[in-house]
Amino acid sequence: MIFRQLFEPVSSTYTYLLGCEQTGQAILVDPVLPTWQRDLAELNALGLKLAYTVDTHIHADHLTAARKLKQEAGSRIAHPALDQLPCADVSLEDGRPFTVGSITLAPLHTPGHTDHHFAYAVEGRVLTGDALLIDGCGRTDFQNGDAPTLYRSVHDKLFTLAEDTLVYPAHDYQGRRVSSIGQEKTRNPRLGDNKPLAEFVGIMANLKLAYPKFIDYAVPGNRECGQCPPGVPEDMQQYCEQVMNSHQG
Ligand SMILES: [Fe+2]
Repeated sequence: MIFRQLFEPVSSTYTYLLGCEQTGQAILVDPVLPTWQRDLAELNALGLKLAYTVDTHIHADHLTAARKLKQEAGSRIAHPALDQLPCADVSLEDGRPFTVGSITLAPLHTPGHTDHHFAYAVEGRVLTGDALLIDGCGRTDFQNGDAPTLYRSVHDKLFTLAEDTLVYPAHDYQGRRVSSIGQEKTRNPRLGDNKPLAEFVGIMANLKLAYPKFIDYAVPGNRECGQCPPGVPEDMQQYCEQVMNSHQG
């Protein structure tokens, strides 16, 4: 399998490119709208054709490129069935493998960050979305998030994978790129080292995070598979299209 980790700097999102060497078909997991052209260029350079986009969940911090890539590259949209998105072409369910060429994703329902969040295990790796980040995890204070539910998802679904399974998260804000199940079980400061549920719930309740800047546009836009909604303010256009940094910095 061809594997690439691509970074989108506005929302610090990792997009994963999975390519089948036999058939030339590819999947993009969590593609981000402003970087759709970069992602297609990457696929072209590798001689791959985009067959599917897949998202881990309805993102609150960016718009998915699923719809745009369908328009531009003819890809199909695969999304967790639980979200019941009318714009999805294929519905993903826990325990039902999703196969493209020689690539098989194992969808893992991992609620807690959002109630319908999925991780995807594939060939010795797990794309953990926002359920498990490197030395962290996604927040649990909106979109039906729930800290005890996230604790159970991580401990019962992700930490039961083989310890050498590589952990590829949907975000990192400090330039870290990859971890492993064994490493997170040992040293994740929120969830590792057999930290009890009550302690985790206390940590998550005291994060005091700001209200997400783009959430009121991202959630409805992502329920349309990445439609930039009307009324996005000027200073947030960078979430809808690539803004060249001609003005400053
Ligand atoms: Fe998220």
